[in-house]
Amino acid sequence: MFFRSSVFVASLVATTAAQMEAPENAPQCCEKLLSSASPAVEPFLALLGVTIPIPPVDLGICCKPISVSGCDNNCTGGIAVTCATTPISVVGVDIGVDCTPIPPCNPTCNTLSTSNSQLFGSDAGDAFNDLTTLVGNGTVTTDNVPSVKAFTLRYGSVIDGLAVTYAQGTSQDLTTISHGTSLTAVQSGLMNRTVTAGTNETFTGVSGQTGFHTTYGVRVLQLSFTISNSFTGASRVVGPFGTSTGTAFTVGGNGTLIALAGSAVNTNSTLDSLNGARGGLYGLSFITTNGTDCPQ
Ligand SMILES: *[C@@H]1O[C@H](CO)[C@@H](O)[C@H](O)[C@H]1NC(C)=O
Ligand SMILES: *[C@@H]1O[C@H](CO)[C@@H](O)[C@H](O)[C@H]1NC(C)=O
Ligand SMILES: *[C@@H]1O[C@H](CO)[C@@H](O)[C@H](O)[C@H]1NC(C)=O
Ligand SMILES: *[C@@H]1O[C@H](CO)[C@@H](O)[C@H](O)[C@H]1NC(C)=O
Ligand SMILES: *[C@@H]1O[C@H](CO)[C@@H](O)[C@H](O)[C@H]1NC(C)=O
Ligand SMILES: *[C@@H]1O[C@H](CO)[C@@H](O)[C@H](O)[C@H]1NC(C)=O
Ligand SMILES: *[C@@H]1O[C@H](CO)[C@@H](O)[C@H](O)[C@H]1NC(C)=O
Repeated sequence: MFFRSSVFVASLVATTAAQMEAPENAPQCCEKLLSSASPAVEPFLALLGVTIPIPPVDLGICCKPISVSGCDNNCTGGIAVTCATTPISVVGVDIGVDCTPIPPCNPTCNTLSTSNSQLFGSDAGDAFNDLTTLVGNGTVTTDNVPSVKAFTLRYGSVIDGLAVTYAQGTSQDLTTISHGTSLTAVQSGLMNRTVTAGTNETFTGVSGQTGFHTTYGVRVLQLSFTISNSFTGASRVVGPFGTSTGTAFTVGGNGTLIALAGSAVNTNSTLDSLNGARGGLYGLSFITTNGTDCPQ
């Protein structure tokens, strides 16, 4: 067999002596790895008078060069290795000396774990979920994760409606999604206000009030927003908008607010002109992420 080859003996002796200085060589795909001390190999080495390397090294059997690109290589069915030297051809069989398997790459992990707050207010409208609208039912990743750029509120004694402007991933494109009473509805006392996150700022918290309004039923009565600056570490609170005659709630401390969900009926009419018909914003739930949920 090839282990008897004097070419191999000479090469192995030369190689093991030289391997300390030898640069790491091009990746190889070997059919198997055998320790130079394994029972399958050691007798041959002993027979041939080759000193068993101490500590033993792994020999790659039937090695061929492979191309490695990132986490991919073309070593299907074999073991991708790097060896201390270029493989030695022994009667046509390429033997790598002191070979180490190339560790598999961890799959890139860019998924984000999200959590939804409870619904604050009422579910008397139609359910909406901006995260599903933007991302679908798939995984939220760093490539598609929404970020809130602005809220535009329509409010008086309750929060009648709001529009949320989102970016996604690293894209600069903006999408605005409106819920409840639109900005076109006009009524004395119905105010609007846009809250915008500036450079390096993210919405990290929301607090507000929910309660029963004698004409409109259970609604979100008030909102205010916490905006944090990742560069300065400072936070600012914008608001409150609306009235504070209900039960307070706070959402935050779990990272970044990425989307709203809730219950609303979109309308161009004011709540007053609806005269008790369904319309406007009824309830809100806040979807946050605390970052990637990757195995450590
Ligand atoms: C892998 O690809 C390289 C470059 O295309 C080629 O030279 C080599 O023979 C291939 N190796 C295997 C094991 O398929
Ligand atoms: C998400 O899943 C729900 C039910 O599981 C389905 O009704 C809805 O159409 C799906 N939405 C998208 C965008 O795939
Ligand atoms: C929003 O409010 C401002 C004043 O606060 C007003 O000038 C503007 O017309 C309002 N926009 C709408 C759509 O009501
Ligand atoms: C935003 O943060 C970057 C560092 O991440 C900093 O270089 C830049 O000056 C910041 N911009 C503002 C307007 O704070
Ligand atoms: C953070 O999320 C957990 C579970 O999703 C929730 O129980 C907790 O109330 C949240 N904390 C805050 C401060 O919102
Ligand atoms: C509000 O008015 C706009 C145009 O003015 C229209 O496109 C939209 O469908 C209306 N929305 C509702 C809920 O009626
Ligand atoms: C992020 O949130 C998820 C779900 O609420 C939780 O399981 C995980 O431990 C949190 N991770 C960190 C770093 O807070």
